[in-house]
Parts: sequence; structure tokens; C-alpha cells
Amino acid sequence: MTPQSVFGSLFHRLETRRAHVGVVGLGYVGLPLAVEFARCGFKVTGIDLDARKIAAISRGESYIPDVPSADVAALVKAGRLSATTKFDVVADLDTINICVPTPLRKTKDPDMTYIVSAVEAIAEHLHTGMLVVLESTTYPGTTEEVAQPILERGGLRAGTDFFLAFSPERVDPGNGSFNTHNVPKVVGGTTPACLELATALYSAAIERIVPVSSPRVAEMVKLLENTFRAVNIGLVNELALMCDRLGIDVWEVVDAAKTKPFGFMPFYPGPGLGGHCIPIDPFYLSWKAKQTGFEPRFIELAGCVNAAMPHAVVDKIAAALNVQKKPLNGSHIVIAGIAYKRDIDDIRESPALDVMGLLHEKGARLSYMDPHVPVLPAHVWPGAYELRAVAPERLASLPMDCLAILTEHRAFDWEALVAAAPLVVDTRNAVKKPHAHVFRLGAPDPDATQLRSIVDVLATQVA
Ligand SMILES: NC(=O)c1ccc[n+]([C@@H]2O[C@H](COP(=O)([O-])OP(=O)(O)OC[C@H]3O[C@@H](n4cnc5c(N)ncnc54)[C@H](O)[C@@H]3O)[C@@H](O)[C@H]2O)c1
Repeated sequence: MTPQSVFGSLFHRLETRRAHVGVVGLGYVGLPLAVEFARCGFKVTGIDLDARKIAAISRGESYIPDVPSADVAALVKAGRLSATTKFDVVADLDTINICVPTPLRKTKDPDMTYIVSAVEAIAEHLHTGMLVVLESTTYPGTTEEVAQPILERGGLRAGTDFFLAFSPERVDPGNGSFNTHNVPKVVGGTTPACLELATALYSAAIERIVPVSSPRVAEMVKLLENTFRAVNIGLVNELALMCDRLGIDVWEVVDAAKTKPFGFMPFYPGPGLGGHCIPIDPFYLSWKAKQTGFEPRFIELAGCVNAAMPHAVVDKIAAALNVQKKPLNGSHIVIAGIAYKRDIDDIRESPALDVMGLLHEKGARLSYMDPHVPVLPAHVWPGAYELRAVAPERLASLPMDCLAILTEHRAFDWEALVAAAPLVVDTRNAVKKPHAHVFRLGAPDPDATQLRSIVDVLATQVA
């Protein structure tokens, strides 16, 4: 086959939805993507090393809250979606998207082992005319410097024999408005043919494609987006700590600032960064920049400020208990929300785990409520013992010196929780009404909130 016919044949199969599409890594990113490809008409096979995920999909069950089980069941039944732990299926695939984890090592260096092992497994079955797209968030250069040489080991060349691209995933778990289908997809190919084929694949399933000139631009786009968030959250967290000292309400400041119709985007303080992306991805960029002797100062500074937030929260809890003449040591602290953000079940890198670890270290006795996380296994938090979520209805019967709000799940009835707690530390501005026993991160202590209630009354009158 000539390079033109290799290209033309795959392009035609993509256009007519006859391509057999693969997705490696069926987690928060890979499963929604596989479902989206199957929904638009492709036959999709997912590959994951986790046999429990494969079994769930085969039974037609979803384990990702944003993907309804009914959708998975219908696609499996229609023969459009299947899943396996075996990579030999790659021999039958026309395309494959790689969505495996990209964590950091303890030293904050990129851990590329998941990407390398997935690409090596694909390389064993790579064949002429196949399109490989990396989606895992990673440092600029990964597609061409890491994936391409492994894939070319068997003698096939990217751009002529097979096709290679990078396209960052932008999924936002728990976001009811934006999903894999309607978030624009940035794509960079190693050659124009690679870009054209990757664009043909995605445009079948996703509303808008944003082509860029190379994989490394596409890799950098994702890191810019996540670094932008990390730096701005760092800025507003620092502002919160300043406001704490100055006796100014940071939440009121941000709310007023965001009325500016241009040039400002609100970010909110909190107990620290969480999730698989924001605390991790900027360090991929920083690692790569340092290879060239460049010191990325914003990333490191934001990392320091954000990493210090769990300590600031513990200080706030200690100060609030102090007002009631209680020490942290021996006090019963109930944590409201341990997922890294509201309305989701993901506790990866959650700052709540750091806050709980610090409280445990200082002798506090802990329990938690989280409708999305029924069990906190011993191995995932520094306290190293298992905790089970307490139902909010049981709060009044628990020993409790302080309720610490770390994640503002919508399922919580804040006024009921505040009424049941002798003392509250709110790190998310979840409690909207002022109460004499509610201390908020980045805001004056409760007695000054008299003024805030007057401001609220005036604002209602003006409205
Ligand atoms: N979760 C998010 O909100 C999000 C958003 C945008 C980008 N990302 C990026 O997408 C990538 C995947 O993240 P995720 O949250 O979906 O991770 P995840 O842990 O939910 O899923 C990854 C899956 O890959 C599987 N896996 C690991 N190694 C494998 C291998 N060699 N072969 C086959 N399967 C393998 C794991 O079993 C797991 O099911 C990461 O690079 C992440 O940074 C995540």
C-alpha cells in the first residue's frame, strides 16, 4: 500500500464510522470517551488492566458517576462497546486512544511508567494504517520523544505507516453542563496526515475540534490550562491568608470583584488543591522546563502556597477551639466532605486527607461525613486507620467539638449541620448566613459578622 492509500483507507473508515476504535485506560477520562465514540456509531473496545472495571463494563455497569449505567448497558447490548484486559485486540483496531494515569513520584518528577507500559503493549501489535492518540496529561515532548520511538521500534514510521497525535482531555468530573461531547478538543499531529486523521476521529464524536501545529503545542495547551488554575488558586489562597490577618472577608472581596465584566475571572480559596490534575500537572511542566535550565517560578510559588493551605486550616481550627477554651489534642473534629471537590466521589490528592492527617498528628479524634465517599480506607490517608462515613442525621449524637467543612457537597443541609455543631470552621464559604459559632477561612471572626448581616440586608433592599 502507498502512504496515500494507507491514509485514505483509514480516513474513509473514520468518515463512515466503520473504524474499530480502542481506548486504553478506562478511568474518569477513558470510559466517558469510549462511550462517546460508541454513541456516535463506532465499534469500541476498551482495554484496562483492572479486571473489575472490565467485568463491570461487560455487565453493562458504569463505575464513573458522570456516565450512566443505562448508557453503558445499551451500548454493550448493541455490540458497540466491549472491554478486555488483553492487548492482543490492538491487532484488530484502527485507532487507539491512551488515557492512563500520569502521577508524580515522591520527588515531584513525572512518573511515566503507565504511559511507557501502555505504549509498549500497543507497539507489540501495532500495524500499518493505525492511528495512536495519547490523551494522558504530560510534559511537552512526550508524544514525540517517548511514545514515537517505542512505536517505531518494529520498523513502522509515524506519518507514513501509522499515525500519531496528542489530544489533551479536558473532562471536569461532576460538571453538569460540560462533558466529553461538548468541550472543544485540541489536537496536534506529528505530521499533517496524523492531524487530519485524529481530527476525523474526534469530529465524529465531539462538537468542536481545535487543531494545533504539533503534539508538543497540544501538550503545552493542557499544562497552560492547569497551571493557570493552580497559580490563580494559589493567588486567591494567599489573599485569603492575608484577609484573615487584615480582618477582611475574602469571599465578599471575590464576589464584588467578579462583577467586573472584563479582565477578571473568579477563583476561590479552600483547604488546598486536589484531584488528579491541578496539584500534579504543573510539576510536569516545571520538570521539563528545568531540563533546559529554566526555573519556572510561578509554578513553584503557587505549589508552596497551595501546599501550605491544609496547615492554615488546622491553625484556623485550633484558633476557633481556643476561643472555646479547648485544645486540639483530644478534641472531636467531624469533617464535612472529604472528596477533593463538591458532588464527586474522587479523593485522589484531596486536601481533606492532609488536613485530617495533620489533625490526627496533633491528637484530634476524627470522624467524617461524605455522601459520595462511604469508606476512607486506612492506606489512603496519613492516619492509616479505616473510617466510615457518618450519616448527617447522626451528627447530633456524635461527640463533637468542631465541625470542619472541607468540601461543599450540595447534598449537605448546611443550616441543619450548623445547628447541630457547637463550633464550625468553614473553608468553602458553604454557610451563607452569619452565626456566632461559625469561623470562615479568609474572613473575620464571627463577632464582626454583625456588620456582614447589615450589608446583606442593604443588598437585598437595593435589589
Ligand atoms: N480525572 C480527570 O478529571 C482528568 C481530567 C483531564 C485529564 N486527565 C488526565 O487523564 C489521564 C487519566 O486520568 P484518569 O483520571 O482517567 O485516571 P484513572 O486512574 O481514573 O484511570 C486510568 C485507568 O488506566 C488504567 N491503566 C493503568 N495502566 C494501564 C495500562 N498499562 N494498560 C491499561 N490500562 C491501564 C487503570 O487501571 C485505570 O483504570 C491522566 O493523565 C490525567 O492527568 C484526568
